[in-house]
Amino acid sequence: MKADELRQKYLEFFKSKGHSVIASASLIPENDPTVLFTTAGMHPLVPYLLGAKHPVGNRLTDVQKCVRTGDIDEVGDASHLTFFEMLGNWSLGDYFKNEMIPWSYEFLTKELGISPDRLAVSVFEGDEDCPRDVESAKLWEKCGIAKERIFFLPKKNNWWGPAGITGPCGPDTEMFIDTGKPKCCDSCSPACDCGKYLEIWNDVFMQYNKNADGKYEPLAQKNVDTGMGLERTICVLQGKKSVYETDVFKGALDLLEKLSGLKYGASDEITKAMRIISDHTRTAVFILGDDNGVTPSNTDQGYVLRRLIRRAVRFGRKLNLDKGALSALAEVYIEQYKHVYGELDRNKDKIIKELTAEEEKFAKTLEQGIKEFEKVVFFLEKAGQKKISGKLAFKLYDTFGFPIEITEELAKEKGMDVDKEGFDKAFEEHQQISHAGAEQKFKGGLADHSVETARLHTATHLLHAALRKVLGVEVGQKGSNITAERLRFDFNFGRPMTREELIEVENIVNEYIKADAPIICEEKSYADAKADGAIGLFENKYGEQVKVYTMGTFSKEICGGPHAAHTGELGRFKIIKEQSSSSGVRRIKAILEY
Ligand code: SER
Repeated sequence: MKADELRQKYLEFFKSKGHSVIASASLIPENDPTVLFTTAGMHPLVPYLLGAKHPVGNRLTDVQKCVRTGDIDEVGDASHLTFFEMLGNWSLGDYFKNEMIPWSYEFLTKELGISPDRLAVSVFEGDEDCPRDVESAKLWEKCGIAKERIFFLPKKNNWWGPAGITGPCGPDTEMFIDTGKPKCCDSCSPACDCGKYLEIWNDVFMQYNKNADGKYEPLAQKNVDTGMGLERTICVLQGKKSVYETDVFKGALDLLEKLSGLKYGASDEITKAMRIISDHTRTAVFILGDDNGVTPSNTDQGYVLRRLIRRAVRFGRKLNLDKGALSALAEVYIEQYKHVYGELDRNKDKIIKELTAEEEKFAKTLEQGIKEFEKVVFFLEKAGQKKISGKLAFKLYDTFGFPIEITEELAKEKGMDVDKEGFDKAFEEHQQISHAGAEQKFKGGLADHSVETARLHTATHLLHAALRKVLGVEVGQKGSNITAERLRFDFNFGRPMTREELIEVENIVNEYIKADAPIICEEKSYADAKADGAIGLFENKYGEQVKVYTMGTFSKEICGGPHAAHTGELGRFKIIKEQSSSSGVRRIKAILEY
């Protein structure tokens, strides 16, 4: 079975069980300051898991673009990826275990044709927070899973979430393919990583909310949240040892073989380099090609993107790839995915342009930087030292464009490490915004749906409306990011705004706030929303209902919320910065003062 077929089968199956198919959300979370990228299908759905009404109903299914960079250093082995697609389905206070477990069984055995004796499942063994999940175990048995293939495991293995410090969570039941390998020991189970069991799907029974005191309170609404990794499942179904050997990466690896004249699999080094280049370029294509996509920079998502592209360029050097290899690879991916993710085709020019520019920029200094690095290593080795100074790491960063992680990786290859503290110090001295911001956000949790972010979100709509009033209705949103402290809004406009225009926009937003208009949310079809003059991006693939937020007479926008109840709650709106974001796109940062 090919990847396209699995995606289709999953959505069709859940459609036949009364689910509405929704479009993948952006890879860049719109209103969640605590994470850089969307990491799971449930992530954009948090407000609905917490009880907000979803416009298309309480049974949803989709395929979500996800980026997880926590394991970026592992990429190159058989299974790690920084981008993946997650197939998922949700019950928002509707069905629960009784339905979900038999459906999972039906999908795996009937639709995917996996024999029940190749399956194993795990369920929660229970602890002081939540009882043993005998119910799920019984349901699996009733479906036809033999008792000895049902494993009771602790919270460490069979509990999902919350994604952050607080939020929806619950026990889960995970499904595994038994590879047929012998047991590694008497207590061999899906909890050991001996490779006998490969996880393919996870059904989470979200029935708790972990509160700030660390207590698990029952959720008003019991949800189901499931996630199936597309690449991993395809790998199992195609009987391959590595995700890179499935049809997902065939086009990319064929091209890399052609461009380098080398064979995938010829040596460990070639295999690793080809995997890293294929993975990182694919992720870069999806980040650049997102409608809210970012461009390479030294902070946040832009920094991750830069790091991915530069790491791909560095490994490209090992294969003697010429300039332009990454953009050629990008073309392969755009062709491969555009029927599912139309945005890649729409944003193709941007993807190629930015990728080429970043590739060229780094290729220019890479050689010199490596020479500099090797010169220093030569002397250090002679002196029997094993630490690269923070000063050198900073020079490689500042002069040669080496992300610190690349220097660390180069050092590791030589059996050395880097004085990270020294690097950070040098960095601070140069008063640049550190990548540490980005790293902290990986560790951070999910979805700060606080009053403050809701207000800033409302302010974003008002700003959008004011900009259109002052600069013209051709101006529209290109991106939005909200932290608890500030909003950031990107919009298409060809030149810097004048001081007068900025003051006018600020004044208009403050008038809207003063008017203290109620904020009204209505659900309607996308066509009706557009006919009513609502603005806002929406991928209308499946004829969904949408939410329209109306604020007085000044703003009407399609959006998922949440928002303040009245504009008067917002305090004083203040623009703190107007700057360029990328070519033809300006960026405003603004705050609310009380
Ligand atoms: N949220 C769960 C996961 O990420 C199930 O979708 O595995």
